[in-house]
Amino acid sequence: MAVPISEIAPATSLGALGQLFTRGTPVLALAPMQDVTDLPFWRLMAGYGGPDIYWTEYFRVHATSTLERPILECLHQNPTGRPAVAQLIGNDIPALVRAAKELQHHPIAAVDLNLGCPAPVVYRKCAGGGLLRELHRVDAILQALRTAIDRPGIAFTVKTRIGFDSTDGFDQLLEILDRNRPDLVTVHGRTVAEMYRTEVHYGFIERAARRLRMPVLANGNVHSAERAAEILRRTTARGLMIGRGCVRNPWIFSQIRDHLDGRAVQLPSGRDVLRYVEALYEVTAPTDSCERLQVEKMKKYMNFVGAGIPPHGVASTGPGGFLHRIRRSQTRDEFFRVCRDFLDHDERMPLLPPPDPAPAGHHA
Ligand SMILES: Cc1cc2nc3c(=O)[nH]c(=O)nc-3n(C[C@H](O)[C@H](O)[C@H](O)COP(=O)(O)O)c2cc1C
Repeated sequence: MAVPISEIAPATSLGALGQLFTRGTPVLALAPMQDVTDLPFWRLMAGYGGPDIYWTEYFRVHATSTLERPILECLHQNPTGRPAVAQLIGNDIPALVRAAKELQHHPIAAVDLNLGCPAPVVYRKCAGGGLLRELHRVDAILQALRTAIDRPGIAFTVKTRIGFDSTDGFDQLLEILDRNRPDLVTVHGRTVAEMYRTEVHYGFIERAARRLRMPVLANGNVHSAERAAEILRRTTARGLMIGRGCVRNPWIFSQIRDHLDGRAVQLPSGRDVLRYVEALYEVTAPTDSCERLQVEKMKKYMNFVGAGIPPHGVASTGPGGFLHRIRRSQTRDEFFRVCRDFLDHDERMPLLPPPDPAPAGHHA
């Protein structure tokens, strides 16, 4: 079993992160999502109960980088009342150390290193998930960041996938993580090559949770309160990180808390979901935004929301299906006409996506 974080370092020295893990209830985290988890999105999630802790989008770090202003604003204006973790992506050690040191002067609970991004433009430069091909570099980066992140109350965390295109190096990765002692490790149970759509290999998350002395958050396909409880049980992780599931269903954090505390889970009605989509439209529109651009922006969110909207006889993406029609809308009126056609009702909505693809069978 993972050693409680309070046995590695006193909660006070780890600040807000340490305190979350001494409560004894599973920690719920908002996953970092580029172009999604910005300040308006944080505010909106907080209004629905929200997670216990929020990750920023990543700061890109290289020799001449400076900390991106909109993400810094997110940290300074943090409207959630909950701690925030600033994520870094890069592989240049002096630059990562510089960014980590600078970030510690901003209101953060932790600095997080991204070891998972599967975008080719990132991994080909050996950053994000690309680093999992070169574990000696991961080791050197972790050593440098562990030393650089030294302000009381600020923790060092890592978010990783389970390998690049195979899981052969997973045990070595765990050994490197354990030796460098980040304060928390989040494991997304897929390889980089698996991107986002395959089954999640929870067995590897369990292996990390049992092997590492720091707490582990399980990440990947947390779709419902029942599934959350099952993933916690299966992996023995100390908490969950949720990404697409909360874009589709912003009630998910409250639903998980209710379920874990033995209360009945409240499902939203179609009209509740419609009001959520309306709020998403309003809060994510910049003051100077043009309608056409905002409708386009909404289509990105709707790819996640739409996966949970029943197809009405045809696949959600097929002709006449929700996403099919949303993708053809061009104006605010057209967009919301489609939303009303599918959501202006009182039926309860579980907001579950279609089932996972069949298990590949070769993973633990
Ligand atoms: C649109 C999008 C953007 C993402 N951006 C990031 C990122 O900036 N940093 C990161 O570590 N992971 C990023 N991820 C991965 C998520 O944090 C998460 O690991 C992944 O989506 C699996 O969790 P889920 O099934 O709960 O969505 C992103 C995922 C999506 C879908």
